[in-house]
Amino acid sequence: MLVSGTGSILDAIVEAGIPVDVVLADRPCLGLLRAADAGIDTELVERDAFDASFDRDAYSARLAEVLQKHEVDLVVMAGFGTILTQPMHDAFGGHILNTHPALLPSFKGWHAVRDALAYGVKVTGCTVHVAGIDVDTGPILAQEAVPVLPDDTEATLHERIKAVERRLYPATIRSILEGNCLL
Ligand code: GAR
Repeated sequence: MLVSGTGSILDAIVEAGIPVDVVLADRPCLGLLRAADAGIDTELVERDAFDASFDRDAYSARLAEVLQKHEVDLVVMAGFGTILTQPMHDAFGGHILNTHPALLPSFKGWHAVRDALAYGVKVTGCTVHVAGIDVDTGPILAQEAVPVLPDDTEATLHERIKAVERRLYPATIRSILEGNCLL
């Protein structure tokens, strides 16, 4: 699993009994601490830059190398904050999953919840998909709608969406592992 944030979706996946070989983060974060607490192997493959000097291909290659060392079958992104490029897709293409806090193809990108609120949609949701080479693209495996309430803030709406992701993502991963959903 790849995380950058609080790791609440990671927790839900672990609690659902899905075997997690290793949790990898691109920065120090709560998700990594939660994984260590749960007795899961952790790896910090830290980004050296967050500006134009960041070498995305080199980072993706480093990440792929670490994941290959752990012999993982499936890469599960849960709030991972780095866009991955060709070297990761060469190594794991078609076997990288993502959950996105909007109904794709609407509101791609890192601010999906904020953008949905700003647009004024009355319904948004979450999408579990196979990660394509472009950000927030790739075959959709599952989606669920979530209402936007009149007094929602970004935080309240995101939490309502995450409550659904914590159910939908483990259920989708389980279907894949049981062979009911082919990648
Ligand atoms: C989730 O809502 C996930 O969809 C989102 O980050 C949150 C992670 O929550 N991912 C993205 O926005 C990626 N574009 P968590 O850190 O509590 O598990």
